[in-house]
Order: sequence, then structure tokens, then C-alpha cells
Amino acid sequence: MMAPEKKGKVILAYSGGLDTSVAIPWLHDQGYEVVTLTMHVGQQADDLDDIKAKAYAAGAAKAYVVDLREAFIDTFVWPALKANAVYQSVYPLNSALSRPMIAQALIWCAEKEGAVAVAHGCTGKGQDQVRIEVACNALNPEIEVLAPVRDWGFTREEEMDYAAAHNVPVPTTRKSPYSIDDNLWGRSIECGILEDPWNEPPEDAYKLTADPTEAPDEEVIVEVSFEGGIPVAINGQKMGSIELIDFMNKTAGKAGYGRIDMVEDRLVGFKSREVYECPGALALINAHRKLETITLSKDVLKTKKELEVRFAELTYEGYWFSPLMEAIQAFVDSTQKSVNGTVRMKFYKGNCIINGMKSDSSVYSKALATYSTGDIFDQSASVGFIKIWGMPIKTWRQTHKEKNINPIDTLVMQKGKDATK
Ligand code: ARG
Repeated sequence: MMAPEKKGKVILAYSGGLDTSVAIPWLHDQGYEVVTLTMHVGQQADDLDDIKAKAYAAGAAKAYVVDLREAFIDTFVWPALKANAVYQSVYPLNSALSRPMIAQALIWCAEKEGAVAVAHGCTGKGQDQVRIEVACNALNPEIEVLAPVRDWGFTREEEMDYAAAHNVPVPTTRKSPYSIDDNLWGRSIECGILEDPWNEPPEDAYKLTADPTEAPDEEVIVEVSFEGGIPVAINGQKMGSIELIDFMNKTAGKAGYGRIDMVEDRLVGFKSREVYECPGALALINAHRKLETITLSKDVLKTKKELEVRFAELTYEGYWFSPLMEAIQAFVDSTQKSVNGTVRMKFYKGNCIINGMKSDSSVYSKALATYSTGDIFDQSASVGFIKIWGMPIKTWRQTHKEKNINPIDTLVMQKGKDATK
């Protein structure tokens, strides 16, 4: 075979799995010098040094391993938490949030290494390819984005043969029946038996959460304290962000909380059945949202809720680096200054029950709300308030007398009964 034309360096996002391992010699065969970048975002992976060794064995010219956990939390996870971001009201976007982070790291590495291209291991059917490529192009359009797995057209057998011929260890253990993506914000499980929404997800799909019916009989109480919308302490103890999320994942997961089973609408046009386990993410979003009910005003809450939906959609659809996202984040940040305080939560057999909250920035006023002594609410003012509040409806009804509201006896008679009995 003729040596391919030299094309320059490519930075390959490298997990150590079969696909991205095969991508090393494959890209090399296309004429690229391959530099791998392995990113630690809290996934359950093999030892990072082993991954590095694997990259070199498969022909990488250089292998980077970077710990992006704190960067991921600070720039993606906490902004998402502040926005209570859940796609279609359920999915906390664990996978979707990591893609712009990966893109950013790829571009950073490419610029540092003077690479002409970056590459990822996504297939052509998912939205991860969209998220990564849209983000890379937004950050540096000069750098080409390659998707070997989308391009090579190997069957599974051909891929294994290619691996064996190129010093890529062929997996000896049976391939997982699912497609898994995980990081510290949660775990996504798809494919296989899950593709039929009638099939109950088998227990072996789950790793982070107990079956709620098997969870311990004892409840667990956790107090989470927030500052500026970000969790900073558990049970009164200050905690670093990685440790705090880990604690929440373990505590909530052990109690059987955090499983999601949904059919979601993909950006690429079809519905897909998705299973997630996000115990920490769901618990923290739950707590954060509750704390906002005492620390934000009614109208801010209402408008924020609308923007939260857009925030989640933009994240899901690969628009992290868009101007709208920037504007929404600015709005959200301006609301979070007063989101301080502590939330008490009880985990019990698949439930996360918030049963207490307090805040120095609370706008809940017991003096206004109380029905007991100490009431400062001026009840006599209600008379005038009701008069004016009800005026538009009263006026309209006076004009539109013909639009009769059905009398009660007609409503009851329609059901074949006598109202006066
Ligand atoms: N459906 C989810 C999303 O689009 C999860 C994707 C998980 N990726 C994977 N390779 N299994 O955000």
C-alpha cells in the first residue's frame, strides 16, 4: 500500500474503548499524526495510566490525560444546576453537558499542539456528534472535525479484524448489552433491550442506584447548604464540589433515588427510549429548586422557569456556546445572588422528600403568613383589593349577559338527577 499523504496532527478524544482505539491506526492510515486526549469527567473508566499505555501501543504519537472534573463542574454543571436544567422536564443533561466541555478541551489541545484537526468517536445517529462539532466549529472554525466511526463503515467483525491487525487489544469480555455514557452528573444507558419501551429495564442496566424496593428500610436525612445557588456544605460540613456530588450520588443512589426511564425527542428527529441514573443531580436540582421558592420573588421565579426550559433545550441541542445561552446564563446568575440557605432532605426507598428549608435571604414572612398571633397582614385592605382585582371580570359579565353560565340545576339534570332533592 502506498504511504498516505501527510496531513498533519489530529487530536483524538480517547476513551480507551474499542472504537476510539481503532480510530488511532485508522487516522494514521489516513495520513494523520495522532495525539490522543483522554478527559476525566468523573466517568467509571479503567486506570488512566493504562489508557495512556493503550494509546501508545495503538500508535499514538503523544497521549494526554487531563482531569477536567472541577472545570466541568464550575463551567457546565453548576450553571445547569442554577438553571434547574432538565430536558423535557426529566433528563438532567448529564451527557449533553459534557460535550461542549470535550469540544473545548479538544480545541485547546489542538491549538497547543498546532493540530489541523480534532476527532471524536461518535456515530452518525446520535446528537453527541452534533454537540461536539457545533461547539468545535464555534470555538475555532479553522480546525477540521473528523468522525472516524461515522465514516469508516466497519461492521463489528471488520472492526475487530482491523483492531487485531493493528496492535489494538480486542476486548475479551462480552460487549455490554447497552451503550453507556457516564460522568459525575449521571449515567446514560441506551440500546439493546431498552429500545422497546414496553420492556422494563433489567436490573443489570443500573450501577449507581439500588432498586427502590430493595433499598434500606431506614431513611437518610441530609442537609445541603447553598451559597449563590451552588451547594457548598453537607450536614454543616464544607465540602469540595467533586466530593459533594460524589456524596450525593452515593447517598441518594443507595436509597434507590435517581432512576429515570423516558422516551425523549432527539434533535436528530426521532424518539428514543433512554434510561438514566442521576441520583446526585436530581437530588441537588430538587433541593435547589425548593430553596428558590423562599429566596426568589414570584415574578422572577415565573420568568426564570420559562428560561430554564430554553436553557435545557439549548444544552440538549448543542447550542451551549450560543449568544442566547450567554444571555440566559447572565439572567440566571443575576437571580442566584440571593439563593443562599439550607435544605433538609429525606431519602427513603426511591423518594427524595424535602421537608425543611431556611435562609437568611428568605422572603418568606411568617408575620404575613401566620393565622396565629403576631399577624401583621392588614385584613381590612382585602376589601378594596378584591373590588379592584375583580372589576374587569365583573364589567365583562355585565356587558355579556347573553353568555350565560349554566345554572347548577341544568348541570345536575344533564346527569339525570334532581338538584333540589
Ligand atoms: N440521549 C442522551 C443525550 O443525548 C444520552 C446520550 C448518551 N450517549 C451515549 N453515547 N450513550 O444526551
